Amino acid sequence: MRTKMVAGNWKMNKTLQEGVALATELKEALKQQTPKCEVVIATPFIHLASVAQVIEGSPIRLAAENCADKAQGAYTGEVSAAMVRSTGAEYCIIGHSERRAYYHEDYSILREKVLLALENGLKPIFCIGEVKEEREANIHEQVVKDQLEGSVFNLTAEQFAQVTLAYEPVWAIGTGLTATPAQAQEMHAFIRKTVAEKYGAQVADDTTILYGGSCNAKNAAELFANPDVDGGLIGGASLKAPDFCTIIAAR
Ligand code: PGA
Repeated sequence: MRTKMVAGNWKMNKTLQEGVALATELKEALKQQTPKCEVVIATPFIHLASVAQVIEGSPIRLAAENCADKAQGAYTGEVSAAMVRSTGAEYCIIGHSERRAYYHEDYSILREKVLLALENGLKPIFCIGEVKEEREANIHEQVVKDQLEGSVFNLTAEQFAQVTLAYEPVWAIGTGLTATPAQAQEMHAFIRKTVAEKYGAQVADDTTILYGGSCNAKNAAELFANPDVDGGLIGGASLKAPDFCTIIAAR
């Protein structure tokens, strides 16, 4: 049985104090509402250690939004996977489209990050997804296949079993334009088939595939109702505890 999951991606939002307050609010809210799925929040690096303390003893798990592509050393401003793990974080988002687009993270950089995360005991939440022009050109399936082959299909089956995939069509991120449930299901089924071709049916069946891109309190339930949509990676709507809790309840 694969893990169902709702993960929040705070991106570059919230000061430390605001982030601690949000995590506290979420923890309190989840005392009233026992989640039926894994709940993860991905916070900026500087929040991790403090948020880890806040959520101790709660069902909330912690993620970083990124990690360095180098193990350690003279890389000013970078944060290593080992450092992330040392805060208590268990997951790490890797390959978010904003990292790919604005920080030029290519397949080989992301391959290094995934390996370093795994070596340091972090479970990658690996993001894939096409831009609008690629969907319009009807090459979206090939794009996500290339992204998988470029950065995670080098892994052994044991390593790959630690990876959660997040299908995030770039045209849907932060735009209010959600993929239809049918579009999401079609892509998730394609991704699962692609994983099956590489690692076999059992691994594919066990792989958690999240949907991300303007998933919110209103549309989460119909997205999650699809057999291959195992949960969501939530940006904007994860910044408000009541909305995030509604999404968790939909899973
Ligand atoms: P969004 O972001 O929910 O604000 O569209 C999702 C994401 O980028 O993970």
